[in-house]
Amino acid sequence: MGEKRIYLDYNATTPLRPEVREAMIHDFEVYGNASSMHGSGRLAHNRVEEAREAVAALIGTAAETITFTSGGSESNNTVFETARVLGSGPDGRVLESGRTEIITTTIEHPCVLNSAEYLKSLGFPVRFLGVDEYGRINLDELESLLSDKTLLVSVMMANNEIGTVQNIKKIAGLVKARGALMHSDGVQATGKIPVNVEELGVDYFTVSAHKIYGPKGIGGLYIRKKAPVFPLIHGGHQEDGRRAGTYNNTGILGFGRAAELARRDLSAYMNHAGSLRDRLREGLFKTIPNIKMNGHPEDTVPNTLNVSFPGAEGESILLSLDMEGIEVSTGSACASGSLEASHVLLAIGVGPELAHGSIRFSLGWGTTAEDIDYTVERTGPIIARLRAMSSVPSARTEERHYA
Ligand SMILES: Cc1ncc(COP(=O)(O)O)c(C=O)c1O
Repeated sequence: MGEKRIYLDYNATTPLRPEVREAMIHDFEVYGNASSMHGSGRLAHNRVEEAREAVAALIGTAAETITFTSGGSESNNTVFETARVLGSGPDGRVLESGRTEIITTTIEHPCVLNSAEYLKSLGFPVRFLGVDEYGRINLDELESLLSDKTLLVSVMMANNEIGTVQNIKKIAGLVKARGALMHSDGVQATGKIPVNVEELGVDYFTVSAHKIYGPKGIGGLYIRKKAPVFPLIHGGHQEDGRRAGTYNNTGILGFGRAAELARRDLSAYMNHAGSLRDRLREGLFKTIPNIKMNGHPEDTVPNTLNVSFPGAEGESILLSLDMEGIEVSTGSACASGSLEASHVLLAIGVGPELAHGSIRFSLGWGTTAEDIDYTVERTGPIIARLRAMSSVPSARTEERHYA
């Protein structure tokens, strides 16, 4: 492994911004329990509340609508737990009448997909909306599925693998018009594009600190005022009874600082990541024949580029790039290591073989033009070598298809 490390996997996680790290290091001195009434407790409590203000400001809402959790997965699970409780009778069984239907999409993060599958296993009717070739849901299809039986609709704002951004405002309008609850997983949108949850009109919105240069293991759930919520973690009265457990005050402080910086620097981030993403796309398309971009060309977060390389295998590309010091992902991080093709790429109509030959480049604050040029320079020969070695019989057919 060479010395040079070019990290292009910012959708998997981000490093702490130096200002966040500094703030956290100082905050580790603050050991009080944020629920204690004495001075040490109040100090911790005040920092938690300042962070709540900052996270709320990043997504255009008031502090009291934010509940801190251990991350995006827990926030999403809390929403599905809420639906489970609302849709169950006192005996714990799914209600026979009333709102019990759940609608989500085929391209959600596994923490939503598996929560939906769990409710399905309990007997809840669950519908998975398909998407078009760019990864967008069909609003007419959604509208046709909505009824006075719909309990919850969950549609992610930006996809982690291909970057496609859904029209959440329109979707929430349709869902609310039918009286159902609307959730959006905003983990990959927050800090990358403008987000205002009050304007979007959602009931629940999920955020996670480690995707916005904050610490891992801390996240938040926006819960619209008066929207129902049932805790996943029972215990003390923290977070108004919505999420028990002693406050991770230093993690929360880091999340708050990261949110503050993300809000302040959003347009600079969009320019930085967007121009480098364009440079990468143009570089790859200029130097490598027969490749295909996955995702929407415009309705997308600025930092994500997903590319299929027919005739080359994704894991081999990833490992070859890693040998050159370039760190990317095949599909989502959670799917790496398993041989299953990405469910997102399959959902947008990429065949299983081509889905296996796809790479996600996700850029961030640390990415430079030199990194991109180096990546372009190294990727071409790797693809050429893997294609030459390829024993995939249909590689040439697919090449023709994308020529
Ligand atoms: C879209 C999306 N939702 C949820 C999550 C899970 O967030 P966390 O890692 O904070 O549990 C991720 C992280 O990969 C994600 O990309």
